[in-house]
Amino acid sequence: MFNIAVVLFSVLLVQSRSEENKLPAWFKIGAASSAFQIEGGWNASDRGESVWDRHLHDFSETLVGNADVACDSYHLWRRDIQMCEELGLNMYRFSISWSRLLPTGFSNYISEDGKNYYNNLIDGLLEKDIEPVVTMFHLDLPQSLQNLGGWANPLISKWFADYARVVYSLYADRVKTWLTINEPIIQCDNGYNRETVPYVEDVKIGRYLCNKHALIAHAKAYRIYEKEYKPRYHGKVSMVQLFVWLQPATEDDKELTNLTLQYWEGRYGHAIYSKDGGWPKQLERHLARNGRAEGYPDPRLPPFTDEEVALVKGTFDFYALNHYTTLLVRKARSGKEIGRWPLYGSKELGVVLERDPSWERGDAAWFSVYPEGIRKQLNYLKNTYGVTEFLITENGFFNTDPSLNDTRTVQYTKKYLEQVALAIQDGVNVTGYIHWSIMDNFDKGYDAKFGLYSVDFKDPNRRRTPRASARYYSHVAKTHNIHPEECHD
Ligand SMILES: *[C@@H]1O[C@H](CO)[C@@H](O)[C@H](O)[C@H]1NC(C)=O
Ligand SMILES: *[C@@H]1O[C@H](CO)[C@@H](O)[C@H](O)[C@H]1NC(C)=O
Ligand SMILES: *[C@@H]1O[C@H](CO)[C@@H](O)[C@H](O)[C@H]1NC(C)=O
Ligand SMILES: *[C@@H]1O[C@H](CO)[C@@H](O)[C@H](O)[C@H]1NC(C)=O
Repeated sequence: MFNIAVVLFSVLLVQSRSEENKLPAWFKIGAASSAFQIEGGWNASDRGESVWDRHLHDFSETLVGNADVACDSYHLWRRDIQMCEELGLNMYRFSISWSRLLPTGFSNYISEDGKNYYNNLIDGLLEKDIEPVVTMFHLDLPQSLQNLGGWANPLISKWFADYARVVYSLYADRVKTWLTINEPIIQCDNGYNRETVPYVEDVKIGRYLCNKHALIAHAKAYRIYEKEYKPRYHGKVSMVQLFVWLQPATEDDKELTNLTLQYWEGRYGHAIYSKDGGWPKQLERHLARNGRAEGYPDPRLPPFTDEEVALVKGTFDFYALNHYTTLLVRKARSGKEIGRWPLYGSKELGVVLERDPSWERGDAAWFSVYPEGIRKQLNYLKNTYGVTEFLITENGFFNTDPSLNDTRTVQYTKKYLEQVALAIQDGVNVTGYIHWSIMDNFDKGYDAKFGLYSVDFKDPNRRRTPRASARYYSHVAKTHNIHPEECHD
């Protein structure tokens, strides 16, 4: 009996090992960037100012430098396409700079040079058989719109819809995968906690207005495509969610973890992917109590009208997921214990979010390597919403090591891809994986080294050099093998 068990166990082990090795033939491999982080050319031609330009020029004392040139992709886009080709990618995910295309922020005037820049990039990729995956908005709001209140102003959804209509009208004939807004939780929760643009401190009102308006803006852009472009071009549209997987620190923290998941994912996901739409009910009640206790006349989460619930519900063609890491949720013993970071919901919910000290860490206090987290999260989302297609739109290793021999990035990517392969075996329909990032880029400075290619920011030509991770990743892209023979470690 014992022997049979051992034999069976080894057979299972060998089998699961080989399945872990392989991604399905139809699985697509990509890499990502975003406009402000790579383009530079901040004042090239008639480009308008973005909130990032304003912030970095006004607050240069923050000593993070600026992104006036960044990777200079505004001029070096041919090299970027060549890198995609060297990597053997099926997809390249980039974003459009709103203020490059619409210098005033409004659709009254379209920049000819801005329009051509993205035309060249899209055509160049398609010539090499690389699918462009295009994000419309990745944090870089036109400053003109920020002057009018930005994401806290309900009119933002109209302005965004106008912008989306221009973008589709120019590129929807060739772009089939659209991402409306990248990581609204960063835009709203961090942006209104002064951790990123627009660097506004307003976690009780601004954060939640931004939250709601981002959902409406996304939905309007989705509906425009659905009605005016989908019948002709058959493409897909989705919003990109950043979701840190959360686990209870102890048995006693299970319920709070559930509520914290609603705070993180549900506040952005429930309205779109759930059968009922709107805010997650339990969380809505919890936050309404917090608001009342402080004497505010309105609930924290701005209510949706029935029309708005219907507008937003179902506005996805797949779930676009950015995943990096996992945190543990523990009930805070006292208010004092709740630090400023990571703050998402900590104060509202009375929880502490922390790393498991036994997990390997990346080069940021909050960043752990816990590969199983991505598999659990994918299963959670499938079970919660019944989503039938997932695309991993970002995943990568947070490190500050500029070395070309980036073995930790290789190991991280390998382990997370193994878990994605296992999630597919679990029955989660993940159709592709996009690595963050194709190259080092501006990330509140230039210390983060996420890139498959390193970029020499001191070189006027911004020379790009492949790292070990680029070699590893190109084997994965070309063979779909997570443990390619050529790359044995
Ligand atoms: C563009 O910005 C750079 C600084 O990044 C500055 O040196 C240059 O003069 C500006 N060009 C124009 C035309 O304003
Ligand atoms: C989490 O909360 C939701 C909504 O209240 C509930 O439907 C679900 O069963 C809970 N899940 C767990 C694991 O407690
Ligand atoms: C997975 O998604 C793709 C793209 O939507 C679809 O063609 C395929 O049928 C799906 N597979 C399963 C098993 O649902
Ligand atoms: C890269 O680093 C790994 C481990 O740190 C080491 O074993 C390997 O020899 C290095 N490779 C090169 C080419 O330096």
